[in-house]
Amino acid sequence: MLKLPGLIDPHVHLREPGATHKEDFDSGTSAALAGGFTIVLTMPNTKPPIFDSETLDLALTAASKKARCDYAQFVGAGPNNADKAASIADKAAGLKMYLDSTFGELRLDDMSLWQAHFEKYPKNYPIVAHSESRSMAAAILFAAIYDRPVHIAHISLKEEVLVIKAAKEHGIKVTCEVCPHHLFLTKDDIPDISHGNAGRDEVRPRLATKEDVDALWTNLNVIDCFATDHAPHTIEEKDSDNPPPGFPGLETALPLLLNAVSESRLTISDLIEKMYTNPKKIFNLPDQPETWVEVDENSVYEIKAVDQFTRCNWTPFEGWKVKGKVCKVVLRGVTAFEDGKILVEKGFGRNVRG
Ligand code: DOR
Ligand code: ZN
Repeated sequence: MLKLPGLIDPHVHLREPGATHKEDFDSGTSAALAGGFTIVLTMPNTKPPIFDSETLDLALTAASKKARCDYAQFVGAGPNNADKAASIADKAAGLKMYLDSTFGELRLDDMSLWQAHFEKYPKNYPIVAHSESRSMAAAILFAAIYDRPVHIAHISLKEEVLVIKAAKEHGIKVTCEVCPHHLFLTKDDIPDISHGNAGRDEVRPRLATKEDVDALWTNLNVIDCFATDHAPHTIEEKDSDNPPPGFPGLETALPLLLNAVSESRLTISDLIEKMYTNPKKIFNLPDQPETWVEVDENSVYEIKAVDQFTRCNWTPFEGWKVKGKVCKVVLRGVTAFEDGKILVEKGFGRNVRG
């Protein structure tokens, strides 16, 4: 049995308010605990989007009643809310900027709209950019111009990891995360994920080439965090004529990464650095006393959607055999998950920015 710190997922979509048929703070934080996460940072592309004090309260009220693990909620950058977003920074996980193709209404195409956010958002809290390829380079330029940190969400391409490496070497305050689906899947896996339903493989950023995936593994030392981008949509929605992009990931990330440890593709200390130490530092998160995760490194099992707590009822990793299982999660001295069961009530989770 191996003991890990309570893990931090800095990028999850729990769909509350507005789309609780896909997920809510109850099902989503149950999935988090089952996956070994004790803090989740939740994204603002909800309905309505979280972009000011009133909408932040909507999400935080739901979370305080329903969350079973600890959490903080991102505020989204819109065209006119730079002052408002900065004024509630103490209550938010950070500022999320959608600079590229995504799901929801929070998209900022015009770079002049980025300026007020980079000027005003407090430097001790992160700005997270959903930005791909050249818009990612633009976000890094903004970090340099305004001399403040920017965290690049879900990198997926060779060109991205190489540009981030160069930016770090020049002292620009950029950090980044990669998702398990961009480390373990390529475009070539699309037929297996699809099961004849074209929408299942839709995800932003899209699955990339083997060359891209190889470059992420080769440059793992450039990557600060593993983040799931847990983006649940129901299986009916994924198989519809207008499939929304996104994969669930909370319950598969740690087993897939432990499996990679068993294959010597990374070490346990890489895993702790990228799922605890670095996200804690980058997102300025507090200690969780008496909190840990017990995993059985030698337990081999098959990933199955029916065993998951997420409400979306599917996984792109269906049938994958992994070595490494989450056995027990202790959160603030209380056993929150053991032997496949959630043992804490709704509302046990706390706002880490509370
Ligand atoms: O695949 C994605 N799903 N990419 C995004 O940017 C948004 C996310 C979602 O919210 O479903
Ligand atoms: Zn996301």
